[in-house]
Amino acid sequence: MANQSLAKRLKSAFRVTPTPTIGKVLPLFCLGLFLLPLFIQSSDSVNRFLRARFTSSVEEELPSELAPQENLAVDNTTISRSKAPASIELAKPVKELVDAIREATRLAWGGDPVPYGGEEKRNWEEQNPCRARLELKPLYSQRKHMKDIPENEQWDLVFEEYGKLHRACTTRVGDLENYFKNENASIPGCKFVVAETHFGLGNKLYHLSSVFLYAVVTQRVILVPESTTVPAIMCEPFPGSSWKMKPRFLDQVKKKRKTSAQFYDDVDLAVKNSSPLDTYASAISNEWKPEPRFWCDTEQNYLTKITWLTIDGCLLWVHKLWAIDMFRPAMEAVFPDRIVFGRILRSVMLPGDPVWERILHVNEVYLRNADKQVGIQVRYWKGEKLYDEKNELVNDRVKRCVWENNILPEVCPSKEDPNFDDPKYAKCKDKLTAADHKHPNITKVLIASLFLGLHDHLNDIYLRHETTTTKEAVGLIQLTNEMIQGSGVEVDSQALVEIISLSMSDVLLVTPMSTFGGVAQAYGGLIPWFIEFAKPKGEPDQCERGLGIEPCFLGANIHYSCKYDPPGYQDVPDLFSYFKSCLFIDVGDGYGMQMVPDKLLIDLKRSFISFVCRLDLSSS
Ligand SMILES: *[C@@H]1O[C@H](CO)[C@@H](O)[C@H](O)[C@H]1NC(C)=O
Ligand SMILES: *[C@@H]1O[C@H](CO)[C@@H](O)[C@H](O)[C@H]1NC(C)=O
Ligand SMILES: *[C@@H]1O[C@H](CO)[C@@H](O)[C@H](O)[C@H]1NC(C)=O
Repeated sequence: MANQSLAKRLKSAFRVTPTPTIGKVLPLFCLGLFLLPLFIQSSDSVNRFLRARFTSSVEEELPSELAPQENLAVDNTTISRSKAPASIELAKPVKELVDAIREATRLAWGGDPVPYGGEEKRNWEEQNPCRARLELKPLYSQRKHMKDIPENEQWDLVFEEYGKLHRACTTRVGDLENYFKNENASIPGCKFVVAETHFGLGNKLYHLSSVFLYAVVTQRVILVPESTTVPAIMCEPFPGSSWKMKPRFLDQVKKKRKTSAQFYDDVDLAVKNSSPLDTYASAISNEWKPEPRFWCDTEQNYLTKITWLTIDGCLLWVHKLWAIDMFRPAMEAVFPDRIVFGRILRSVMLPGDPVWERILHVNEVYLRNADKQVGIQVRYWKGEKLYDEKNELVNDRVKRCVWENNILPEVCPSKEDPNFDDPKYAKCKDKLTAADHKHPNITKVLIASLFLGLHDHLNDIYLRHETTTTKEAVGLIQLTNEMIQGSGVEVDSQALVEIISLSMSDVLLVTPMSTFGGVAQAYGGLIPWFIEFAKPKGEPDQCERGLGIEPCFLGANIHYSCKYDPPGYQDVPDLFSYFKSCLFIDVGDGYGMQMVPDKLLIDLKRSFISFVCRLDLSSS
């Protein structure tokens, strides 16, 4: 699909993505390609305004409050782990998932498993070094104004068990290409899923993470084609094995596999005749995300019979696995706090050493001595044309957003300025002292953008004033300004450097609909601020706080379209409280579905009430 024209891609996307109930939902979302639709003014401006006010101070960031363990039904089972702590209590559905993965692993070995360790482990670690595995997490815990997401031992265990299955199957099968060529299915327990993907790094990580969790819940071994560039920039994630797939091998799979349309037709036949499905390899999905029927138990049951699947796409559909009855109990139990994508990223998508070195370098040179780090990601969808059109507007909005929400301090006006006596500048009357300069309080702002406009704008403000209202010194950093988005290993490597560097922020501002920003927020466990990109509206319209850490599944089909299973054709968010429509600022006229923990929504409401109360008081 790489050499298809944009028009053709759009056309094919329209054709293959029927959206019966929301006709205007278009797959606008694969990045770098589409026009940002013009936003229409939301009528609910009071609500918007209040939500934008829901800042709290950065110290009171939400993720620390986010671990509602109460709905975690823990049974008395304990399962031993290879790492300390020696055993953890598992909720029943988690234990069932772990047991299923262990059973597949046992079958794959076809006898006693070959334990991992000794020479094999030493060799593998030597050939696949991965410093980020130990060094990434501590950098997140070092943030001064932002608590890191809580540990999730159940997920860690599930991930570890998956790694054992991956090693068992790749070891026992040996030559995967031959195994496939001969339509061999002789090793029980071993089924495979090939993750194809495209567009920018953000899109790739959205899709690959989704395929990975699907591989875990269906006990399939995930293979990632080298053509995605991801194996070149990330560590090998599964000890003692590889997830790489050579181009020639991928070509063979593409030649042999059935189409997904054929698969769904075959299911209809099989259901009608109560006959089994005889397919060795099949494609799933339509280049964007799995089709509507993928989300149904009957289809999923037939999929379990197929040895090889390929799933292509570029969107974050991982959360919709919760909509499938047969996966939901395990998913709910493994991720009780509904922090999902970031956990997958931090387990599976660790930057390889060459990229990690660059990240450390950026950290040491530009960021490390900061008391606070703010990340701002600005994306102009139509490239230079939209940049020319909107640069000034967006610069002004970002400035108002960071000032009005106390993300960055305002600069002190000069004594001659008529506003100098405004109470908000009270502290400006104290000059900075030698002691202040001995221990400067430094805030670093890392900007990721293809253009320099915002950097120059903010830099000018902070450079050309003596001091700020909080005496913080504000420094601006922008690592690259490439003007146009490229592709390839080097482009993706640098994108990953900037994504991870942004994710180290205490506060993050992102561009609506941007997968680049979404990946940064998820790695960092951050609830972002969305910068408003729509037309001016003559009211507070600079930015809005996100609903939660999980990015939006843009272009989601929210309804079930199941022919054979309950609940028929209902809308998913009507059935599960943790699915919400994404914010208007994030999706505009499009549609998106987002996973938001119940707890967070309650907190949002509380802050809403307290703010209204304060309004009442001040007006009395
Ligand atoms: C679990 O432990 C509790 C308290 O120790 C006990 O009352 C209960 O019967 C146990 N349940 C099972 C399934 O063993
Ligand atoms: C199937 O795979 C197994 C294990 O890799 C191998 O021993 C066997 O010879 C293969 N059979 C065929 C027909 O390729
Ligand atoms: C730096 O400034 C911030 C914001 O005013 C403040 O919260 C923090 O305590 C200061 N840090 C130091 C080391 O003075």
